[in-house]
Amino acid sequence: MDKKKRAFITGITGQDGSYLADFLLDKGYEVHGLVRRSSTLNRERLEHLTQTDGENPRQGIILHYGDLTDASMLGRLIEKINPHEVYNLGAQSHVGISFEMPVYTTEVVAMGTLKLLEAIRSTGIPTRFYQASSSEMFGNAPAPQSEETPFDPASPYGVAKVAAYNFTKNYREGHGMFAVNGILFNHESPRRGENFVTRKITLSIAQILAGKKQKIVLGNLDACRDWGYAPEYVEAMWRMMQQDQPDDYVIATGETHSVREFLENAFHMAGISDWQQFLEIDSRYHRPREVHLLVGDAAKAKKELRWEPKVKFQELIHIMLSSDCTREGISLPLHSQNLSVAATGGEKINQ
Ligand code: NAP
Ligand code: GDD
Repeated sequence: MDKKKRAFITGITGQDGSYLADFLLDKGYEVHGLVRRSSTLNRERLEHLTQTDGENPRQGIILHYGDLTDASMLGRLIEKINPHEVYNLGAQSHVGISFEMPVYTTEVVAMGTLKLLEAIRSTGIPTRFYQASSSEMFGNAPAPQSEETPFDPASPYGVAKVAAYNFTKNYREGHGMFAVNGILFNHESPRRGENFVTRKITLSIAQILAGKKQKIVLGNLDACRDWGYAPEYVEAMWRMMQQDQPDDYVIATGETHSVREFLENAFHMAGISDWQQFLEIDSRYHRPREVHLLVGDAAKAKKELRWEPKVKFQELIHIMLSSDCTREGISLPLHSQNLSVAATGGEKINQ
């Protein structure tokens, strides 16, 4: 009998999906992913998994066309793949854009989750289900936020994630499904989308150093976030799915920093002290409502999942900045190179 576990990942082309695919392949899983049809291929973050290495073809992933808005396709795929574990990471994940596209965001984030849960329930396959819940669900609830903190979403994205969270909990409690919510605080990496603030900053600084760009254009610099390192966070997802009982967990570093601090530290690492001259503030990037302070209490995950973050703020900036510098064909000034870096900076093929 085939003992290989099968995992199905929605959002496999995104930051977390690609790291989760790496992680599960290393664990010996057969990995299936949902991809959307588009006129140009959007698989940069998966290139290293689909390339062959001379005579040794690397273990690949199996991709399936589909969309979280297409319930019948989701049902067919669940039936065909017969997965042991389903990770629902697919989303319109940009908070600012969700104010412009609230209906579509809700269709994908809330209704998409419900359609996937229904697809699983109707096939009767005893798969485990992970929902990518978010610290954005807390909105401006008092910090530090834990599993006990009441949600107070401040964006259409946050509202839709709360609905998806509740659907997941309801299928666990109502239908006895092994369904968990990972309430993840912000996590970043060299594979982070270029329009999220951390990556926008590190990529812009690398381009300024390379002489390709003159300014970074940003919005609110005062918001504080609890920023962790994405590869560590996908391991927490997997750990939740290996528990005896399904439950919900906050995943966070417990530290918070403002966007301004991120900016200052990144410029400092790049050897630029008069950084204000490279900064422009544009109200275009201000949101109709802002989440001011996120900082997570991940004590439950530490105790029950034995999960703890290792990469903290300075190291995270260094990993991202050095990767973007490598991408732009330059190196960071010497003084920033002796920061301890757990992961290597240059991650060229996986951008
Ligand atoms: P991401 O890089 O933006 O990736 C989103 C993924 O969802 C992409 O693969 C995207 O496909 C896919 N997708 C979008 N719309 C879809 C649709 N209609 N049908 C199927 N797939 C669709 O996001 P991420 O940072 O990896 O985050 C992963 C998940 O965790 C998301 O649900 C996000 O909301 C949640 N989350 C993220 C964080 C964070 O800090 N990163 C924190 C908490 C929760 P395309 O490549 O085709 O666009
Ligand atoms: N994106 C962006 N672009 N944000 C900016 C900018 C800018 O030019 N200037 C300032 N900011 C501020 C935003 O207003 C926000 O306060 C903060 O930077 C972080 O913005 P993002 O990086 O877009 O992340 P987010 O916190 O809104 O959402 C991310 O984290 C959530 C978890 O809390 C996303 O990954 C969500 O999908 C995730 O759920």
